[in-house]
Amino acid sequence: MFFEPMDYKNAGLAHNPLKAIVAPRPIGWISSCGNDGSVNLAPYSFFNAVSEDPAIVIFSVQASGPNHQKDTLRNVTETSAFTVNIVGANQVQAMNVSSGDYPYGENEFTTAGLRMIPGTTVNVPHVGEVPAALECTLLQTITLPANDRGGHYTAILGTVTGIFVDESVIVDGKISYALLAPVARMGYRDYANINDFFELGRPVIKG
Ligand SMILES: Cc1cc2nc3c(=O)[nH]c(=O)nc-3n(C[C@H](O)[C@H](O)[C@H](O)COP(=O)(O)O)c2cc1C
Repeated sequence: MFFEPMDYKNAGLAHNPLKAIVAPRPIGWISSCGNDGSVNLAPYSFFNAVSEDPAIVIFSVQASGPNHQKDTLRNVTETSAFTVNIVGANQVQAMNVSSGDYPYGENEFTTAGLRMIPGTTVNVPHVGEVPAALECTLLQTITLPANDRGGHYTAILGTVTGIFVDESVIVDGKISYALLAPVARMGYRDYANINDFFELGRPVIKG
């Protein structure tokens, strides 16, 4: 079958398949603070690393209409900092709790029963239970094109300024995926535990 992106129903599909096609996606569990000192935590799976040196990450925040703004975007715009927490297998339920649409100013660390560890390079706490976290400063926001209902996404690029890794997930100087146990987002309501790994060398081209 072939269809234009929002024409999936005419193709016989019950739900928009885009996120099921671009899967698995890592989950950026974003902590941030507002100018008023409030703390926020929410998951974002339109998330990835886009540059290694310098280290730069991106995530994308939906606005359902012209007057809607998620707390994370408000905070990052106000204070120019955020931290990406990596969701390990033991944090899935808490991550889900933190995705609720709570009023601005509600601290989802508290709501989800998570520990706050103060940031080192940014004034943003990270989740005490996670295996890894990336402290970031805002590099750029890009307002993406709106749909016909006035909804749009804002892409947020951040420069990584500090990396926390729980030493228990390091084996022989490398991150152990089995111990990091990152949870991935699929399409629909689906998630994946990544637990099948293999190594592959790059091709050697003889001149
Ligand atoms: C696994 C997961 C991934 C999500 N990814 C995104 C995303 O990429 N962009 C987005 O706008 N919302 C995403 N959401 C929804 C937000 O987490 C949700 O709207 C949350 O209330 C936003 O919180 P905030 O207003 O405190 O920033 C996701 C939710 C879940 C559970």
